[in-house]
Parts: sequence; C-alpha cells; structure tokens
Amino acid sequence: MYAFGKINTYEEKLDLKKIVSEVDLEEMEEALNICDLSTLAKKYKTWMKYMPRIKPYYAVKCNDDALIVRELADLGTGFDCASKNEIKLALEAGASPEHIIFANPCKPVKHLQYAKEKKVMSSTVDTEYEIYKIFEHYPESNLVIRFRSEAKEAQCPLGDKFGCDAEADAAALILLAKSLGLAVIGVSFHVGSGCCDFPAYSRAIITAKNLFQFGKILGYEMRLLDIGGGFPGADDEKFATISKIVNAAIDRHFPDENVEIIAEPGRFFVASAYTLIGKIHAKRDIRTDKNTDLKMYYINDGVYGSFNCVLYDHQEITAEHLLDENEDLQKFKSLIWGPTCDALDKITENAYLPNLSCGDLIAFPNMGAYTVPIASPFNGFLVPKTLYFKAA
Ligand SMILES: Cc1ncc(COP(=O)(O)O)c(C=O)c1O
Repeated sequence: MYAFGKINTYEEKLDLKKIVSEVDLEEMEEALNICDLSTLAKKYKTWMKYMPRIKPYYAVKCNDDALIVRELADLGTGFDCASKNEIKLALEAGASPEHIIFANPCKPVKHLQYAKEKKVMSSTVDTEYEIYKIFEHYPESNLVIRFRSEAKEAQCPLGDKFGCDAEADAAALILLAKSLGLAVIGVSFHVGSGCCDFPAYSRAIITAKNLFQFGKILGYEMRLLDIGGGFPGADDEKFATISKIVNAAIDRHFPDENVEIIAEPGRFFVASAYTLIGKIHAKRDIRTDKNTDLKMYYINDGVYGSFNCVLYDHQEITAEHLLDENEDLQKFKSLIWGPTCDALDKITENAYLPNLSCGDLIAFPNMGAYTVPIASPFNGFLVPKTLYFKAA
C-alpha cells in the first residue's frame, strides 16, 4: 500500500492507473495529488543540457513543498526566496546561503534581518527606499538591481509591480548605492511568468549589458546576471527554443565566463511533477439542442483549492478520464465545477470527456505550479492530499 507523507517508489514508469486503483479513493473526501519527484531530476537534466552556463535558482513560491525543495537542493539548484520562511525552508533542505537569492524587491525589515542572521547576502532591489532600508539594516548585502523588461505577452505579467525603469531609474539606483557605500554585484529581470514572447529574454539581456557597463564605470565589479523566470512548465520544445535565444544573447553580450549567470525558474521544474485526481460527486446534463448538449460535473477540488491557478495563474486546465480503457467512447463537451457554493468555482468549460458518472475520476496533468501553496479549504472542502513517488 502507498504511504502518505513518505516517498513511495516505482520500478520503470509511474503507473497512474495502477496507483489510483490501489488507493481507497471511495473513502477519501479530498482530491489526490500524485507527485513524481523523479520529474525534478529529468527537468534538471533538461535545464543543464540546454542552458549549461546558467545556474537555476528554484523559485520556492511556485511550490514550497518541503520534499520538492529538498529534492532540488540535492540536485544542486540554488533558490530564489521571497520571504523569511522560504529562506528557512531552503536552508533546512540543505541549501547553502551563497546559493540563495532574496529575490523579493520589497522586503519587510524582519525578513531582511533574518537574511542577515543567516548570511544570505544577495538581494534584489528596485527602489531607492529599499536601498535605504538595506543601508540601515543589512549594509553588507550584495545588491542586484531589478529592472523592468516585460514580454509582450505572458500568463502572469509582473512589471506593474516590480522592476525599476531601466533607462530612467536603474542608473540612479546604482549611483545611490555607490554614494552609500553599498555593493552592487549585478542586475536581474523577470520577463513575466509563462512568457509567450521569447525574444523578450534577448531584449532584456541587452539592457542588462548596458547596466553592467554603467556599473563598471562606477568601479563596481559587476559579476551576477539573473535572468529570472518565465520558462514553460510542460513544454520542453518551447524551452529549447527559449534556450537558443538566451544562449545566443549571452554569448554575444556576456562572453566573459567570470560573470555568473543565474535564473529563477519556478513553473519549469514543478508543473509536470503533479497529476491531480479529482472525483465526481454530482452531475447535471444541460439539454439545448442535439448538437450543443453539455455535461456538467462537480468534483472534490476547485478554484479555492488547487485550481486557484485558474484564477491567479490564468492556467488552462487539461482534463482526462484516467480510468477509461476504451479510447473509442464518444466524448462530450464538459464543464467541470469545483465543490463550493460559488459559481466562480469553475475549473474548465472546455473539456471533452466520455459520459461520466458520480464516483468516476478525472485526471488533471501538470498541476504542480502555483497550486498547492495557495489552496484553501473554503466552504469546508479539504485541500488535496499528496502521494509522493520516485523511481527506485
Ligand atoms: C521574482 C520571481 N522570480 C521567479 C519567479 C518564478 O517564475 P516562473 O514560475 O515563471 O519561472 C517569480 C514568479 O512570480 C518571481 O516573482
């Protein structure tokens, strides 16, 4: 039997159907997450194959499960932490402070003091207020100036909230740091999570180069380029395309191997590590005319649980009828609702599924990014339980 809270092993391939048939899902109220920790090693290998010069610093916010963080620490990634608790988690997983970047440009003082206590030296900043704060509370910090350089299209743009204007403000911030005697070691950007405009990376890298030159003129040894996140979770072909653009820009603008280049991927590592299994507990048929019949299913997880990613992360959800042996069954347009009494709690209206019944299971692949840490038990519906697996 499989154990919750422990890592279960499998021989060759993770067999979802077998697992699901062996877990007593009838007794389980909540949905089931199946997490394949071996996915992380595969993703790490893919990363190193395509972008060997760039060290990934996993963005803990994306999925702060302790086993995920530990697995990545063992693989040798660094960590992008946004808060005191994320730093604590990364340290507890075995990360060394030099391999953590405090990449939240707006930091509560107590969190900054914690970073100081734990000797996490590198911090991103994007305003003069933050520079003064660091001057007062942690002047030994190594500053990384975060500038704004957005993709034309991204699942979750970040530029309204973070990043200084590269032309109007970045140089002034570097000058301010200089006048306060603080160390600036480099620059960072984030093109937006779920980036759909890949040349955005190369535009940002050119801007980074100009800021490096400005820093050098002021006498700084600019030695860190942080290219942020934005990489796809489940599409390694797209990742390969991005890597070509990034590598070409880096070879051209940062040929000096002494410059350390890092990235802050979140989604890339964890999205495909999770498959969520939801169970139907209610059903409704909407009959209009023959061609537009719609089947509605109500399942035990929704947008207040793992599917918060539909609201916050603008994710498009894929639904599969996991236990269906018969591929030829007729499929119907299906709308899947979450369990709460809120009509906003809609998971997808674009699923095509066989005619399912209460008790049937639906599998949702690629559910590892921006899902688990945000889920709440609103309306009394429990958040999913997770079973962890790893290849033996
Ligand atoms: C500062 C920072 N770095 C990295 C990430 C991770 O981005 P992604 O999951 O797109 O790789 C985020 C996401 O919001 C972020 O805010």
